[in-house]
Amino acid sequence: MKSLAVTGSSGFSGTVRLPGDKSIAHRACILGALSSRTITIHNFPLNDDCRATVEVFRRLGIRCVFTRRKRTTASLVVSGKGLHGLARPGAPIFIKESGTTMRLLLGVLAGQPFATTVCCGASLSKRPMRRVTEPLRQMGARIRGRKTAGVPEEYPPVLIEPAPLHGITYRLPIASAQVKSALLLAALFAKGATRIVEPIKTRDHTERMLRLFGAGIKLADKQIVVTGGRELFALRPLYVPGDISSAGYFMILALLSPDSHITIKGIGLNPSRSGIIRVLKRMGARIKVTPSSRHRVTGEPIGEIAVRTSGLRGTTIKKEEIPSLIDELPVLMVAACLAKGTSVFKGVQELRLKESDRITAMVRNLRKMGASISVIAPLSRRVTGSEDIVIQGKSFLKGAKVNGFQDHRVAMSMAIAGLCAGGRTVIDDVTCISKSFPGFLSTLKSLSK
Ligand code: S3P
Repeated sequence: MKSLAVTGSSGFSGTVRLPGDKSIAHRACILGALSSRTITIHNFPLNDDCRATVEVFRRLGIRCVFTRRKRTTASLVVSGKGLHGLARPGAPIFIKESGTTMRLLLGVLAGQPFATTVCCGASLSKRPMRRVTEPLRQMGARIRGRKTAGVPEEYPPVLIEPAPLHGITYRLPIASAQVKSALLLAALFAKGATRIVEPIKTRDHTERMLRLFGAGIKLADKQIVVTGGRELFALRPLYVPGDISSAGYFMILALLSPDSHITIKGIGLNPSRSGIIRVLKRMGARIKVTPSSRHRVTGEPIGEIAVRTSGLRGTTIKKEEIPSLIDELPVLMVAACLAKGTSVFKGVQELRLKESDRITAMVRNLRKMGASISVIAPLSRRVTGSEDIVIQGKSFLKGAKVNGFQDHRVAMSMAIAGLCAGGRTVIDDVTCISKSFPGFLSTLKSLSK
């Protein structure tokens, strides 16, 4: 356990580049392993979750070698063996606490000619898997998670046995990129076409990368159609753009701290991920975005963001916007606490199913710092389980002892809240930060004046 103490600061400035995007890196490693050629993935982030994905594919017989290793990034060389080249692992696969690894991997494993059990750490063992296992069963998969008495939900460990897959049409009942991606990956092994209908758009990294690797993929309005069986390979090395979710902490730090100006270079600007920029601009943030032409190499938009101290005003975040900023909601709550007026975050219930119940975690922590924050489940929406967060902005937060809830995004958001508050804030345990961003604290230090 490692605690962190911070005090309100006099400002931050400087220019940084951040390790590659966690979501894109998982997908690059997975498709690299299924491709028929060796691929190099530059700016691969050395966080716990992405390392877990690399470990999995090593266990499945794929050579993955880190080169040009720096402290928090490396180039990863993946020697794929083609769509049908994975080897039967000798024992259950352990994927630590990485939810993205788990859900995407289930899609890949459903199409293999061998049985596998996928198990994980204690926290991920409590997260729901039925959202993936159920549609995979519709595709013909023989897959089942752990059941608990009286609950229809399924949890890890998950057992997958060989079975032929066939394409289906599936309308996503929850806006989840992990579910969508698991099905798109399973579609690579299925007979016929798989059509995914997505009522609310979620991050499209899998679609972009499938295209880059030459998969049979067609995109139409709210629909993705994948036809499997094609040989996969990328013509060039990949470069993973900086992680916009990691950038979110520094953007909000710069906005809320006095006399601050932070520039973030080489950052991912995929519209399905950059909702935070749109929302902060609406709140009055002074953010300059300069796209670069580099995206032609990565298949992903990339550019520079420059952020300056700004007075923020409250806003409403619509439920359709949530997937484009789902992981940034905790730190956006911090921004809303210090904005003028009321902010409403609509339809945020999925936050309860992340590494922690992020609604409870952030409400408890921010209330300790004097914030006015409440959760409402409007009567008409009680049946659907939809929840909103309402925050009355204040001009001041006070330092407090808060909890990291063993959740990287809560811990980092509370560090930002502490740096923008009066007095001293202590976060009880920040070891969890390495899940996505082991360089968070050193980057913070490099930016402090
Ligand atoms: C992710 C999708 C999101 C996000 C998670 C990463 C991905 O989860 O919260 O951190 O890489 O596809 P959901 O698909 O469950 O919303």
